[in-house]
Formats: sequence, structure tokens, C-alpha cells
Amino acid sequence: MLVILETLPNLDKIVLKELAIRNVPVNVKYSDQTSLIIEVSEEYVKLLRKLQTVTRLERCITWIPYVNDIKEFRKVVRKTLREYSDYFEHGSIVNVVSRDVRDKILKILIREIERVFKCRLTRSRGDYEIYVRFFNRGFLICINIGSIQPLYRRWYTVYKSRASLNPILAATMSIIAGRYDVVLDPFAGSLTIPIEYVRFWKNTHVKCVDIEYEVLKKSILNLKVLDILDKVDILCGDYFKIRFRDIECIITDPPRGLRLRSSIELYLKFLQKASWEIVDYGCIVFITFSKIFKNIGRELQKLNLEVVDRVDTVQGGYKVSIVKLVRK
Ligand SMILES: C[S@@+](CC[C@H](N)C(=O)[O-])C[C@H]1O[C@@H](n2cnc3c(N)ncnc32)[C@H](O)[C@@H]1O
Repeated sequence: MLVILETLPNLDKIVLKELAIRNVPVNVKYSDQTSLIIEVSEEYVKLLRKLQTVTRLERCITWIPYVNDIKEFRKVVRKTLREYSDYFEHGSIVNVVSRDVRDKILKILIREIERVFKCRLTRSRGDYEIYVRFFNRGFLICINIGSIQPLYRRWYTVYKSRASLNPILAATMSIIAGRYDVVLDPFAGSLTIPIEYVRFWKNTHVKCVDIEYEVLKKSILNLKVLDILDKVDILCGDYFKIRFRDIECIITDPPRGLRLRSSIELYLKFLQKASWEIVDYGCIVFITFSKIFKNIGRELQKLNLEVVDRVDTVQGGYKVSIVKLVRK
């Protein structure tokens, strides 16, 4: 079957990495920065729903070629959809979501979906969610086979701090970092990174530090829901006053929202400390606004660190970079 995996901008390659690590055999038909169209056997659908780097999962029902003449186009739409007329229970409630489809065309497609499938359309969530997108000079008609919520909204999230990271980014950082046994998140906040790390890399353990007692106290609820209290060690305190040694991987989302100069100072202070704490084969993975990374890039040489991987994406309208550093 053909499946569309949607992710955040530029993370398509990370999704492919995740599929490979999870041993899901796929045939990639198309890939752009945010979507992948793959051919995959039906038996893997359950596993696809567990992917940590995907925001939406859709199954392609059919593709309708675009025909310039409106009357002709309407006929083609009706004929193509009729083959699938038993796809939904008649009378079901359907929500149609579109991407890159012009209004006039969308009206025709929606009208025919309603007519052929004998369904009732809704603006909110219905029994089914159909996606229509312009693709390859035609229209792909797909159905949501992920969860009711977008997949980045994790079922285990009882508590979310104000600065909490998108779990898709936390999972991406975990994949970029790789599997290690001694892992530290020195600015753990609501524990998004530690949680996504231990969910992704089975049988691992993460040490966490945060200065905010209240945030940590509430974040423990998420660990309880997941039943992973034993996989995360929590320490409340100022990371800059605690000494660590022999850490294999430091993976973190340092404080945001500071002025550029203060951010740069904080990052350099963090990187200097982190570079002393990691073992020779260790790594540091962190996420930052791309404009901050531009400013600290030059200083890495002095800290004896080098960039071995970097992924740029967009989060909440801001360009962010995920960077992996090792000792030179
Ligand atoms: C950007 S937030 C991390 C968010 C986290 N990734 C999440 O998903 O909730 C940065 C965190 O660093 C913590 N912090 C700030 N200064 C700190 C310090 N000196 N030592 C330890 N934690 C600190 C803040 O309390 C905040 O929770």
C-alpha cells in the first residue's frame, strides 16, 4: 500500500533513518522536505503509527489526474472515486483537508466525495479525515490512518512546561545522537528529550538536571504514565555548579528567550563545560535558533569541538538547528 508520512521541514531524511533503525522495509516513491510517499506492506501499519518523527500518517486511496476542462474533470473525479465507493460506511461524517489545491477544484472534489461516498461533510473532526493534495499534475486522495490527534501530541503528556520542546524534535535529536549508555540532559525542563530518548533507544537511561523544582516535580507525572521512572535520574540544581564525568552523550535544549549576546555567552559556557565532561568517543547534541548557532560556530574551534552532523528545520516559525559535536 502507498502511505504518506508527514514531518517537520527538512526532516524527511530523519524519518527514513527511523524507518531503517526500526527495520521497516519501504520503497520510497517520493520525498520532499516535509512529506514522504512510501510503498510498504500492510503488516507494518501498526509500527508506522509508533514512528516518533512523524506528524501525520495517511494512506493513499487514489490519484485523480488534473483535466483542464471543468466538465471533463468532474467526470474523471466521479469515475475514479466510484471504484472506491464502498471505502467508507455510507452516512459517515467526513472532514476534508486540502493542501495546494485551488478553491474551484477543491469544490468539485468535495462535491464528488460527498456524492460518491454518500457521506456528510464536517469542518471539525469526523469519522474519517480525507486529505486532498496536488501531486504530480493530479490530486492524491488520502485518508488519515494515524491517531485522532496529530502524532506530535504524545499520549503520555500529562504535563507540559511553557518551554517544552516539540517531541518530534526531541526524537530527531535522539536519532542524530545515536545510542549511548551514559546520557545527560543538563537543561531537562519537562523531560521531553530524556523521554523520547529512552522510548527510541530501548534499555537506555538518561541523567537529567534542571534548576526549576516545580517543573521537574510535575514532569515526573509523564514518566509515571509511561512507567519509565527507573530510566530517568533527576537532579534539581544549577548545571553549572554540578560536576559530571565520563558522560557519553550530552543531549539538550538549552534555555531560550535570552538576548542574542547572553545566549551566545550561555552556549559557550555550556559547550566548554560539556566538552570536559564527555568521554573521548562521546558527543554533544543540542538544539538552538539557527541565528545563535551562526554566532557560536566560529568559537567551536577554540573549544576543540567539531560539527559532525547538523539538521536545520523550522519550529513555530523560527529556524532552528540541531547540531552534533564531537571532540577533535
Ligand atoms: C528550553 S528549556 C528546556 C525545555 C525542555 N527541553 C522541555 O521539553 O521541556 C531550558 C530549561 O533549562 C532550565 N535551566 C535554566 N538554567 C539552568 C541551569 N543553570 N541549570 C539547569 N537548568 C537550567 C530551565 O529551567 C528550563 O527548564
